[in-house]
Amino acid sequence: MSEKNNTQNIPDRTWWKEAVVYQIYPRSFKDSNGDGVGDLQGIISKLDYIKSLGIDVVWLNPVFASPNDDNGYDISDYRDIMKEFGTMEDFDNLLKGMHERGIRLVMDLVVNHCSSEHPWFVQARSSRDNPYRDYFHWWPAEKGKPAQRYSFFDVNNDAWKYDSLTDSYYLHYFSVKQPDLNWENPKVRTEIYDMMKFWFDKGVDGFRMDVIPFISKDIAFPELPAEYNGDMIHYYANGPHLHEYLQEMNREVLSKYDIMTVAEGAGVTYKEVLDFVDPDRRELDMAYHFDGMNIGYLPGRFKAMNPEGYDLLEFKRVYSLWDSVFSEKGWGTVYLGNHDQPRMVTRWGNDSPEFRELSSKMLTTFILTMRGTPYYYFGDELGMSNVKFDKIEDYRDIESINMYRQVKERGGDLEKFLDDQKISARDNGRTPFQWDESPNGGFTTGTPWLNVNPNYTSVNVAAQDDDPNSVLNYFRKLISLRKNDLALVYGKYELLDKSNPDVYAYSRTLDGEKLIILLNFKSKMSSFKINDDLIGAIILLNNYPVPHSGSLLRPYEAVVYKLEAE
Ligand code: NOJ
Repeated sequence: MSEKNNTQNIPDRTWWKEAVVYQIYPRSFKDSNGDGVGDLQGIISKLDYIKSLGIDVVWLNPVFASPNDDNGYDISDYRDIMKEFGTMEDFDNLLKGMHERGIRLVMDLVVNHCSSEHPWFVQARSSRDNPYRDYFHWWPAEKGKPAQRYSFFDVNNDAWKYDSLTDSYYLHYFSVKQPDLNWENPKVRTEIYDMMKFWFDKGVDGFRMDVIPFISKDIAFPELPAEYNGDMIHYYANGPHLHEYLQEMNREVLSKYDIMTVAEGAGVTYKEVLDFVDPDRRELDMAYHFDGMNIGYLPGRFKAMNPEGYDLLEFKRVYSLWDSVFSEKGWGTVYLGNHDQPRMVTRWGNDSPEFRELSSKMLTTFILTMRGTPYYYFGDELGMSNVKFDKIEDYRDIESINMYRQVKERGGDLEKFLDDQKISARDNGRTPFQWDESPNGGFTTGTPWLNVNPNYTSVNVAAQDDDPNSVLNYFRKLISLRKNDLALVYGKYELLDKSNPDVYAYSRTLDGEKLIILLNFKSKMSSFKINDDLIGAIILLNNYPVPHSGSLLRPYEAVVYKLEAE
């Protein structure tokens, strides 16, 4: 710990503020039994690797029993493990192995919806007077068609599915196999809280909460109010009883354990986020926003990126704004990719052979030197990049497959669609982890559920583990830097050289200690202008072997300077 960091002056020091979270997509991490699907035994076999990174918390995407319409985000039994992933005993061993290594485990809580194969739904759909009927949202057909609600994964965009068995529609914001749970029913809430306690009592250290802002609905299902026209996500995120339920959840469950929670902040704006994470409100600990992820798309075209790239000024504006929200209270998060996004280096950096490593390191520097808990997606520590499939048959994601069908039905430009998907598709971020240069990157001895990125022959753990200049070891160094300097965790953030379109420069200050972070987001030499004198400043980390000097940054250069004490 830095001598200058006087920890007395930091109010509310908390483990999850100081943690680095590493996200593992279990389907793609390591397959132990040759069926082509990653599993819990696979993760167990790699715990020493995970430990070697220096991370503190693993967020595991859903591992619960599921028919896998949406890769585990459709749960058919919240208290059991998906067969492909293993058994409850494997889970218990995984948790034990993590805890023995000082790593905490955060699971995915998917309770806006469950699977249509969950016994609750099987019961509920069987008759209108079934005791489970009110666990879901139904609209009797004799009342006519319900008001339009849009679905994310439905080919017709329709969130109401007609079910002839009881002559009613049920609500599904996501796929038809993901019916929305009715949170207005207290029995549903009690079931969910009990289930959460089941996992906490096992020793799980927290939950990442899937589309949690969507749980409360106006059950009169009125026409979409005009102000939300074209902004259904924001409407979905503003249900009438949302915060009552989160406070109840906190009272009934969360407050009883030393755990962390992070909301998937879909539809939540910077003006609303403190309603979720202001500690005085006793709801959740953190939320991750979508404003950063929404940068760079073409207006009005879902998931089509602007070929000109994105505007760094916009990027800086968004991240600075979101930092300012938490300057007095609450706590933020920083991430540049996850299982719902393409690979960060392709999207925010440059995945050409010349710049892939440099820009991966630069982006990693950003994530780990901002204020807020870093959420780091597995594989980014190797500089894994988008796989860029050529044909729809290579995709496994319901989102891409259904969008393709939509474009086809509309007679749209399928080639253009596939080109866009090479940049934006979620499967780009879901390809198997690249362990070594053996077939399929050492992920599986069988046929992988999703093709491995062919660059595994050079981009893999084995090639990078012992190379002091690798992306992997740069990540490890940054983590230890963050761990050893509380200014990187708690220090005040200030944007420098605000109007520079190429360089993101900022300072982090704590108790007289000042760090300057300089990041060149461009593939050219870029200049920067800051007021602080860097002569005599110490370089704590640089992504080039020859140390930085002067007022220019080399392509994708990242430098962390520590100023001499004033
Ligand atoms: C958000 C999850 O991150 C995503 O993967 C999933 O498809 C939807 N929620 C539905 O659960």
